[in-house]
Amino acid sequence: MEQVTTLTYWSRATNPMGDDELLDLLRISRRNNARRGITGLLLYRDQYFLQVLEGPEREIESSIKTIEADPRHHSFRTLCREAGERKFGTWQMGFENLNSVTDQVENSTIMKLQFDPDYFGATPTTAQILVLCFRGIANPAVLASVTL
Ligand SMILES: Cc1cc2nc3c(=O)[nH]c(=O)nc-3n(C[C@H](O)[C@H](O)[C@H](O)COP(=O)(O)O)c2cc1C
Repeated sequence: MEQVTTLTYWSRATNPMGDDELLDLLRISRRNNARRGITGLLLYRDQYFLQVLEGPEREIESSIKTIEADPRHHSFRTLCREAGERKFGTWQMGFENLNSVTDQVENSTIMKLQFDPDYFGATPTTAQILVLCFRGIANPAVLASVTL
């Protein structure tokens, strides 16, 4: 099984991001990530980003330097860094704008957690679990059954 480096961070958007800006960012990210063998997930909510990047260590290192220096966000904080299997398979960068989730998802256990940097900072592994759970965002029943 391929071993990859997985890095999870949160950051704060410098300005609220509109759909067009988010789409631009995703388009570039997916193109670059495909080239670098990077997969992952980007969540956006209340001006916070939570991103998981996984791929060859060297690629993650250079990509994260670029991302961290991006003026569209600040207060970058690494939550988790680990080696392991690739979990996001073919997702060059999955994305969910959590400001516009359905009521059903909104009422699930996972959404009742605070989306707050101090919380994530204190319990980094929760961020990982949370992100993995959001992979099933199309299936609220799966989310509702998750207890952290
Ligand atoms: C929250 C956030 C997440 C980003 N994620 C990625 C990413 O996964 N991959 C990527 O290549 N660029 C990502 N970027 C964009 C980079 O900072 C940078 O603008 C981009 O890689 C430049 O690409 P280019 O040199 O091809 O123009 C992200 C930026 C922000 C603000």
